Amino acid sequence: MIRSVLACSVCLLGASFLGNAQSANEDIPHLAKHGTATQLIVNGKPFLMLGAEVHNSSGSSLDYMRTVWPRLAAIPLNTVFVPVYWELLEPKQGQFDFSLVDGLIHQARRNHLHIVFLWFGSWKNGLSSYPPLWVKKDAERFPRVIEKGGKEAEILSTFGKNTLEADKTAFAALMRHIREVDGQAHTVLMMQVENEVGVLGDSRDRSPAADQAFSGAVPAKLLNYIQQHKNSLFPQFKKIWDASGDKTSGTWSEVFGSNADEVFMAWHYGRYVNQVAAGKAQYALPMYANTWLHGPNVAPGKFPSGGPEPEVIDVWRAAGNAIDIYAPDIYARNFEDWCDWFNQEGNPLFMAETAGGARGQANVFYAVGKDNAISFSPFGIDSWRDKDNLLGKSYSVLMQLAPLILKHQGDGTMTGFVLDTDHPSVTATMNGYKLDISLDRIFGGKAKHGYGLVIATGPNEFVGAGSGFRVKFSPASAGPPNAGVGYIEEGSYANGAWVPGRRLNGDESDQGQYWRFSNQGTEVERAVVYRYR
Ligand code: DGJ
Repeated sequence: MIRSVLACSVCLLGASFLGNAQSANEDIPHLAKHGTATQLIVNGKPFLMLGAEVHNSSGSSLDYMRTVWPRLAAIPLNTVFVPVYWELLEPKQGQFDFSLVDGLIHQARRNHLHIVFLWFGSWKNGLSSYPPLWVKKDAERFPRVIEKGGKEAEILSTFGKNTLEADKTAFAALMRHIREVDGQAHTVLMMQVENEVGVLGDSRDRSPAADQAFSGAVPAKLLNYIQQHKNSLFPQFKKIWDASGDKTSGTWSEVFGSNADEVFMAWHYGRYVNQVAAGKAQYALPMYANTWLHGPNVAPGKFPSGGPEPEVIDVWRAAGNAIDIYAPDIYARNFEDWCDWFNQEGNPLFMAETAGGARGQANVFYAVGKDNAISFSPFGIDSWRDKDNLLGKSYSVLMQLAPLILKHQGDGTMTGFVLDTDHPSVTATMNGYKLDISLDRIFGGKAKHGYGLVIATGPNEFVGAGSGFRVKFSPASAGPPNAGVGYIEEGSYANGAWVPGRRLNGDESDQGQYWRFSNQGTEVERAVVYRYR
């Protein structure tokens, strides 16, 4: 439903608030378990978020955004990730200007799109460029990180009590306002709290307050958490704890050895960001924190030290529980590894930022099919001049399949894959069949790239989508020793119902030997298989 935006766009703190209680009839977007997967529920139904993020400064001008929304809607996508800037939301302390927030919500509704708001508060990419000038100019009230050698960095320190209070107040005001203007319509689905936090330039804060805390004992709250969760810690963190002998008391260096600086910063960022996210008491949208991922053998400080990497997500979890999901920004080539590393120990995969173009076109199938991603969101969409609309080709297919995908998430009947000449094949076992999935053969050789997902939709029946791959079936349960392809249909889903197109046989199925997906487009096909002596 498109609702008009409330009039009170600029109001003083406290002037228009409804109070803390959520009214009983608000079906707020929320997370729910579905088998082993976690789903986002919007208006009572699971939602597959096929989105994209605009550039950092785009959300600062409604005039600029006005022409962007229809272009994004046409891709098609269903959700736009757009920043909300502390400097523009609270230009004077205690005086809030919600006009941009209201305008963005209004524009999204006009274009039938949802929003994920990104709170650019104390930190953005490690640094502190988005706090208002009244914060930036007052290093006494809002202290900075001190690096080795005494240099003051343009990074607000997690030890600044006034900073935390100010950020919390602004974020809580934002959440209250979103509830007031969107608590029924649910245009806004989720909140990102801060952006890629962590200390850049050094492995930890060396301000006097930080040094004092670092030389003291590791807090009991963190140590208790580690012991209580020792069988379900991320393996990356378990390795760090094990390396110094699984200590249950001691200083940061004693308990965490050479990783002490990063773990220490993770604890302090985790505490701070979770306290900001506690603004969800005003309106309980699901909240996530995104991560600038470290490269192989890169030291903390070269990437933001203390951000929620798989090595320290447990530390963030120990520090607070207002953040629901820790989410990767994956630009690295080993996309699949990072998806798997974030989809662990109850942390669902929420693809906060990633590459678009041909990589995004393929990778979305892995994220959604293999790791039950709640979302997919390539970055910088408003400047793309992608005449082939590669992402749109994948999104169109995934939107058709969304009801089926959401039904099968978390029950072991779906897989996703990206294939290339270095990784030309994968296997999966579903519904009593082993599937050998490999790059398709084409005239003159093999496809160089392939991607897709396969769902076991019923006994002897599979639905697949993608490009440049083929599937060989063999039996993986008791019964007749051979498996064959009964028939294959190409087609599409309209309102959840299968609409068959051509029956594929002959060359299109390698004379009945393979379920094939040509590399000429992104196809949807249904295969019926059988067993025989
Ligand atoms: C990751 C950040 O989170 C984004 O805001 C943006 O700065 C991109 N990097 C640019 O590549």
